[in-house]
Amino acid sequence: MKNDAIKVLIVDDVADIRENISKLMEFHSEVQIIGQAGSAAEAIAKTKELQPDVILMDINMPVMDGISATEILAVEAPQSSIIIMSVQGEQEYLRRAMIAGAKNYLVKPFTGDELLQAIKQVYGLAQKRITIAQTASNPLKQGKVVAVFSTKGGVGKTTITSNLAVALAAQTGAKVGIVDADLQFGDVALFLNIAPRSTIADLVREVDHMDAALIENHLSGFNDSVGVLAAPLRPEHAELINGAHLTAILGMMRTMFDYIIVDTAPSFTDAMLSVLDAADQILVISSMDLPTIKNVKLCLEIMESLEYNRDKIKVVLNRADSLGGMEPREVQESLRYPFASTLPSDGKTVVHSVNRGVPFVISNPETGVTKGIFALAAIIAGVDEKKPAAERSVMSKFKRLFG
Ligand SMILES: Nc1ncnc2c1ncn2[C@@H]1O[C@H](COP(=O)(O)OP(=O)(O)OP(=O)(O)O)[C@@H](O)[C@H]1O
Ligand SMILES: [Mg+2]
Repeated sequence: MKNDAIKVLIVDDVADIRENISKLMEFHSEVQIIGQAGSAAEAIAKTKELQPDVILMDINMPVMDGISATEILAVEAPQSSIIIMSVQGEQEYLRRAMIAGAKNYLVKPFTGDELLQAIKQVYGLAQKRITIAQTASNPLKQGKVVAVFSTKGGVGKTTITSNLAVALAAQTGAKVGIVDADLQFGDVALFLNIAPRSTIADLVREVDHMDAALIENHLSGFNDSVGVLAAPLRPEHAELINGAHLTAILGMMRTMFDYIIVDTAPSFTDAMLSVLDAADQILVISSMDLPTIKNVKLCLEIMESLEYNRDKIKVVLNRADSLGGMEPREVQESLRYPFASTLPSDGKTVVHSVNRGVPFVISNPETGVTKGIFALAAIIAGVDEKKPAAERSVMSKFKRLFG
């Protein structure tokens, strides 16, 4: 008996293929084939009966195809992760299968190793989601929403969002959700090296049934404490998401997370205004070059005209030491806001970390940018980061958590 094994259901209309796949897994104790189904209808019935962890689903079946079955099972049996199986040349179907809710895919013929990898990968992802879900949805919880915003592109919003979320979770032991609301070109998932199987575009298709379990289904786990609602995979899907959707999503996520960090697009669209309205804190990211300063000044003026409380807005100076002839004091006077926090410029650390998909707060704990992010996390958490003892204990706790 394989007691702790990952339970797998094989769905294919060809009996020989089912047998072959079953044989591939015969000697792998991590996996147990608990059943086979020869049609989509049988797959749905057996999933309900056997509750597999993973379903291997053929894409091409007579009567009802694997995509339609995936669509049904993704909603009715979200605890079972689906891996779609196809032959070469079915890319368009594959894309549809992933949108329907499949978590991974395999192109036939595949080896036992490839199959095992895929099964373990989707199972691992689902386990992470379950860990996050276990503390989810407490109607009394009122998590804080922090929007990371700027009217200028490329100032470091995504860098700050991804590292801040990880630092905040490590520093406070909080559950932190990230919403990638840079709806056209969001890349939080890339920064955190997550391959999202579901995105905010998939979530809003079911927005009428909004509850914590639904959001949970569409989150990707970075670790046990940080979950990401990824941006749509294609820019044209951005228009599926409007301000009302974001308001509803953030409202529900407050009951699931202690903090929700929202990455944004650099414009005052309806969707971004909904995020800014919902936010408890807005981090306005600036740098020291004139065009950015001009834009940030306009941005702050608009926020004033929207009657946002001054306390809600914190200006963060990124790449603070690449001054280009200006004094921070002059800039603060011109903006009429102090810099709540400054982060040094450190291309080597920051770019290397993005390319490896590991946040620098994990990979480079001793650098100035990491310390700057922790200081920012402390401000958000309301901790006095100036006390050296506090910082030491934070860093040691962090090292315990992430080695
Ligand atoms: N403190 C820093 N030191 C050095 N490089 C940085 C720093 N912060 C950000 N960068 C670099 O600047 C570039 C833009 O950063 P990022 O993608 O985070 O900005 P963004 O505001 O999210 O951009 P976009 O508007 O395109 O979404 C990246 O190449 C990033 O590595
Ligand atoms: Mg970005």
